[in-house]
This record gives sequence, C-alpha cells and structure tokens, in this order.
Amino acid sequence: MSLPDPALVVLVGASGSGKSTWAASRYRDAEVVSSDALRAVVGSGEHDLDASADAFALLEQVVAARLGRRLTTVVDTLGTDAGRRRTWRDAARAVGLPAVAVVLDTPASVCRSRNAARDRPVPARVLTSQLASVSATVDLLEAEGWQVVRVGPDDDPNESDVEPARASTPRATPSGLRGVVLQLSRFPADADLLTWLRVMAAAAEEAGLAGLALMDHLIQIPQVGRPWDPIPEPWVTLGALAACTTRLQLGTLVTPVTFRAPGITAKAAATLSALTGGRTFVGVGAGWWEREHAAYGVGFPSARERLDALELGIETMKALWAPGTKPYAGQRVSLPETTSYPRPVGEIPVIVGGGGDRTLRIAARLGDGCNVPSDEVGLAKVVRYLALVGQAGRDPASVHPTVLDLPLVGRDRDDVWARVERHRGRTAAATFAARHHAGTAAEHATRLSGLADLGVTTAFVAPVGLDGPDDVLALAPLATAFGRPGPGH
Ligand code: UTP
Ligand code: MG
Repeated sequence: MSLPDPALVVLVGASGSGKSTWAASRYRDAEVVSSDALRAVVGSGEHDLDASADAFALLEQVVAARLGRRLTTVVDTLGTDAGRRRTWRDAARAVGLPAVAVVLDTPASVCRSRNAARDRPVPARVLTSQLASVSATVDLLEAEGWQVVRVGPDDDPNESDVEPARASTPRATPSGLRGVVLQLSRFPADADLLTWLRVMAAAAEEAGLAGLALMDHLIQIPQVGRPWDPIPEPWVTLGALAACTTRLQLGTLVTPVTFRAPGITAKAAATLSALTGGRTFVGVGAGWWEREHAAYGVGFPSARERLDALELGIETMKALWAPGTKPYAGQRVSLPETTSYPRPVGEIPVIVGGGGDRTLRIAARLGDGCNVPSDEVGLAKVVRYLALVGQAGRDPASVHPTVLDLPLVGRDRDDVWARVERHRGRTAAATFAARHHAGTAAEHATRLSGLADLGVTTAFVAPVGLDGPDDVLALAPLATAFGRPGPGH
C-alpha cells in the first residue's frame, strides 16, 4: 500500500478501530485534523460532546484552509457523515489533490474490547450503531469517488509502506556511471576547501554513490547561491578529488563549450582519466549564462553558434581520445594529427546537458548520454532521447539517459517538513515540497527506481541544503536504485 502525497485522507472507522493510532504513525501532528482533539480545544476535553458543533466548525475551517494550500490533510472523525465527506472531497478536487478514504478494517469484537479497556468507553449501544454506520459508509465510498484503502488489524502502524528500492536489471551500459552521482554545487567559504572535499568524497564512497560531479561556472549561479560564494574551477578540483577517491566516477555537469577550446577539455579529461584509472566523464553544454562570459572576457556567441560549437567540440574530443595519432578529417572539424598523451583509460562518456530538441539530437548522434531535469517534462525528453538514439542507428542500451535531481531528503516525515520550512523561502510549502520530491531517503529510492524503469541510468543528485558528510551518508539508500551494488561493494 502506498498512499498519494500530498492528499486528502479521510479516516473511516468506529471508536477503537485504531484511526488516531494509524494517523499518528504516518503523519505529522499538524497534518491530522481530529474532531476529538478540537473538542478538547474548544470544550472541556476530547469527550465533551456539548462542544461538538464548535469543534466541527473549526474542523471544517482547518480542512478547507489546508487543502487550499495543497497540504496533506488527514481527517480523523468517524467518517460516516456523507455531507461532510462531500464537502471535503470537493475541496480536494478543486485544488487537484487525490481524495483517499482509509477504512480501518478492524473486527467489531476488537473495537469492543479496545473500547471496554479505555478510561472513557463509548456506551456499548453507541459503538454498535457506529459499527453499523461505518459498514454502510464503506459501501458508498467508491461511488462517491474516493480512492479506498483498507487497513487491517494486523498492519503494523509503524511499518513504512515504502518498499525498499528495487534493483531493476541493469542494462549493459558502457561505464561505471550508472547510479547516483552527487553533484557538489555549494562550497564552504570559511572552511579549508581541500579538507572539505576529502570529507565529502569519503562520505560519498561510504554511501555507495557512483560518483561526484562539479558544475563548471565562473561565478556562482543565482539558482544556487550568491555571486561571492566560492565556486572552484572544476578540472583543478577534480584533480584534487582524484587523489582522495578510489571508486567514484568524476566529471563535470556541465562544461560549457564556450569556456575552453574543446581540445583543451579533451586534454584535461584524458589526464583525469589517466590519474583515476578511467573514472572520468565529461558533461558538456552550450553555455547559457552571459554574465560569467562577459566578466571573464569569454565570447558568448548566439545560441545557434554555441550549439554548432557543441557539435564540433564533441567531435574534436572524441577524435583526440581515439587510438593513434593519425590525422582526423570529420564532418565539422579537421585536425592534422591527433597526438594526445596520456591516453584516457577506457572510454570517457560524454553527457550532453540541456533539453532543447537540437541539443537532444546532438546528444543522440554524437554524445554518450543526455542530461535533463527529473520532472515530468524532463522524463518525456528521456523517452524522446532514446527514440532519437534508435533513429541514429545506435543501441539505446549503450547510452546514458541521465537526470538532474534536486531532492529534499529528511530522516522522517517531521524532519522532511522542518527542512521544507527551513529552505522554502517565499515559495509555498506544498509547491516547494513537490518541486523537490520532499521525502525520506527510502521514498526517494523508490522514486528513482521508477526512473530506472523508464531507462534512466544515472541521477545527478544535488540535495537541498547539503551541508556536510552526514547529508551525503543519508543518501546511502538511494545508491542501489539503479541496480548498483549497495554501500560497501
Ligand atoms: P485509537 O485511539 O487509535 O482508535 O485506538 P480510534 O479509531 O481513533 O478511536 P476513537 O474513534 O478516537 O475513539 C483505540 C485503542 O486501541 C489501541 C490504541 O492504543 C488505543 O488504546 N490500538 C490501536 C491497538 O492496541 N492496536 C492498534 O493497532 C491500534
Ligand atoms: Mg481517535
């Protein structure tokens, strides 16, 4: 059983069926709107039936306000009032949230004995009539449009419903890039850079991640930080990482072709490959941020010329990495010789970043992979990319469709939402949570396994609020999502 989230969740069950216990085991206190709890707020206690009208008026207000913000709302009442159910369902529909009815399928005898054991049992005849209205309600739910979920008495309320990440069968891909690659995009201003890199790299190896990727920017980009935040030159930094890692794939995501002549990038990557025994990939893109080009005196031609340069750049790098020193006469570039030593160890996969259609076609014809966002639009591009690879007469199993993923990872539901509050800025909480797939590591692992089923081989992951090694170690459950062996292998 896996429940949608965010969602409206309406509990249905008699007293003692375990509604409040189930809700407390899965949701944060603030997500559960309980008529009993509100009786205690406006009346003398949870059992103050004289306070019912006031409590329900508040309940309706809370449910409407939360749903209006698209926040998960769990309604803890008997669930047997058809008129209220309709109001809640309509409010959820109005904002496009799924409406789920959770039926506590607890036998009447269990409800009775639990009820009898309580300090303030419900009178036996009241419980009998509750049980009757619950079973009448259950018959109506599907027709009312609810997604009905039944919770049996044996379901352990503390057991997470999130399945462990399934290791889908790995396709035969050309390099060790398959898996989760941590993208480091923020660097400490007041700590020693090399020490910090060492610690982060050790944590990534311990967590079983596939690699480390660095952005290639001259000024920290506004999506990540402030212009005065440090952003070290990636090829130099990757050289340092080469000296403190033994398993991780290392590369850029992505190097703009505008920054360096492609032969120079080929040289840097071949050197890194030699230094690491072949643990190198190169992300390339057309470049997009005019400001950094201007500030560093680098030309920034039109988009069309930059995409031409991307094609030419990939062709040049591949020519220089090919065996031998013979002249190269290609479609876009001719070189009098291709003398490049040290040789790379094995192949260096070229991952082409960007989702424009021409970029995808370049990736399919000339590159070894693409990189697109992990949202719905990006995933549609993965499908398109794999089709283009086939059209180019290449084997789709030989390439790397990759995604850039910006997950918010928390230890549990409370921690997840505390982090949403900490990082959301002025963005609405539900919007921010959805954008970053806010959830536990186990939930992210399940989600990434779903991407693997679409053909994605690699997720470049830049977690929200990644501060130190503990945040890297927290990613360990994601490491096996693409069919990689787990930590310690
Ligand atoms: P709940 O208090 O969760 O039931 O459990 P409820 O459906 O919300 O009841 P009302 O409508 O508010 O009255 C009732 C009792 O059963 C125990 C709980 O500890 C509580 O004392 N319980 C519940 C279990 O022993 N096991 C369970 O799986 C669930
Ligand atoms: Mg209760």
